Amino acid sequence: MSVTRHKIIFVGDAGVGKTTIIGRIMDNPFNEVYEPSIGVDFMSKNIKFRGQNVKLQMWDTAGQEKYKGLIPSYVRNSSIVFVVYDISVKSSFDNIPKWINFIKTIENTTLVLCGNKLDLTDRQVTKEEGEALAQKEGISFFEVSAKTDENIKNMFYNVVSELPTFSENNPNKENLIKELMQENGVENVQGGIQPNGQS
Ligand code: GTP
Repeated sequence: MSVTRHKIIFVGDAGVGKTTIIGRIMDNPFNEVYEPSIGVDFMSKNIKFRGQNVKLQMWDTAGQEKYKGLIPSYVRNSSIVFVVYDISVKSSFDNIPKWINFIKTIENTTLVLCGNKLDLTDRQVTKEEGEALAQKEGISFFEVSAKTDENIKNMFYNVVSELPTFSENNPNKENLIKELMQENGVENVQGGIQPNGQS
């Protein structure tokens, strides 16, 4: 059985929830305790597609400024970069353009904007602000909660379905996402805005 590999990177300010999002994608329980990441870590997730295994390497970068210099070598040759902010921390959203420009100087990769902590009620960034920024940048946008798991799997399969490994010869994205979720035992839940503004 052949194995294809892809690199998926998570960047964004410290504490926005990158480690927790990756944990949820890996089906781990929510961890309330904040343990700041040190440097860069990775986890491997195998996705089944028509009987084949596709290996997705998920790289979790540390948000603290002192580790930023480590990021470029990981972003090179990546397939997808999730740029994450916390909807309850305005500064983490204000820093998004800097993160996006930083990534763009390194690699021409697929960027995805992700607003995390949707479960919190003290929102400082509206959904419309997130949408507007994503539209300006021409990238996809999702709001999720790594705590409640809301929209995490939908975001993940929506985004990975765009990888040529899956999308080549499969022009119907909706069907492809459904197929991927079914084959990997995930229930389909909706949410997310595509670069063309369609939900
Ligand atoms: P660095 O490693 O420092 O860059 O942080 P990070 O972006 O990896 O954040 P991490 O996943 O460690 O989460 C930081 C804190 O936010 C932890 O206490 C998590 O439990 C909490 N957290 C993460 N996601 C959510 C969420 O969706 N909702 C809520 N309420 N808390 C969350």
